[in-house]
Amino acid sequence: MSAITLNNGVTIPQIGYGVFQIPPADAQRMTEAALAVGYRHIDTAAGYQNEEGVGSGVISSGIPRDEIFVTTKLWNADQGYEKALAAYETSRKKLGLDYIDLYLIHFPVPQKRLYAETWKALEKLYAEGAVRAIGVSNFKFPYLDRLLAGADVIPAVHQIEVHPTYQQAELDALTRTHGIAVEAYSPLGRGADLTAPIIVEIAERVGASPAQVIMKWHLDRGRVVLPKSASVDRLTENLRVDAIELTESDLTAIETLEEGLRTGEDIETFDIPNR
Ligand code: A2P
Repeated sequence: MSAITLNNGVTIPQIGYGVFQIPPADAQRMTEAALAVGYRHIDTAAGYQNEEGVGSGVISSGIPRDEIFVTTKLWNADQGYEKALAAYETSRKKLGLDYIDLYLIHFPVPQKRLYAETWKALEKLYAEGAVRAIGVSNFKFPYLDRLLAGADVIPAVHQIEVHPTYQQAELDALTRTHGIAVEAYSPLGRGADLTAPIIVEIAERVGASPAQVIMKWHLDRGRVVLPKSASVDRLTENLRVDAIELTESDLTAIETLEEGLRTGEDIETFDIPNR
């Protein structure tokens, strides 16, 4: 599977299995299934409340720990220096792992004015070797710039919603300008972008499924992609994209689908459920 090298030299498999909305009771089984079909990168979060199952799946897979890339994220209620350090340890223990590959601030929660301080805690975890890389998620303008202004460590990744009908092209470009890798969540538009006529036409022409065409578009544009599926067959389909060839004109045709159709939380109004 293709991988990219982050700004600190760590390599990350370019396709990861996103476990948002996978119920806790299914998380172990689905993680094991994803690893069995070839995924080597799992993306969870404290806020998904399924870290225990994900960690159990990683361990029970029998695959050497250093062959699996595990990401988790700091929940909004845990922002602040001391809280963030404690939250990391809670997540690590729930996962049952000695270390986490990538730890992200899940949302900036600008109302709290704590993300710069929270970032200092992540920098400490990184300096101590508790995590192999640190990053942020959902830091749209101006929050990414503000974080960078006070940062000693540049985030290795920025995880944002990106799919054909919501590309966040400016934020994607700003992120890359700083040498930060873009990770796309809801890469298929939660399934809604799969029926766009341009996608269907390209899929028929290149002999792939619509999901595979969108996956390949992300990969060709250099993003890490985090598709979700409750079906093992579709998980497998989303991983088997290496042989698909898209032309530059296919890629730009997909980019004409931009409609500003955000499916996730609006970070300006998304408040802090204290769970
Ligand atoms: P399902 O769980 O039934 O497979 P995103 O990753 O953008 O959030 O999209 C996830 C949505 O896309 C889910 O509804 C998922 O449904 C659907 N999906 C994922 N992979 C495929 C695929 N290969 N073909 C069709 N639908 C898919």
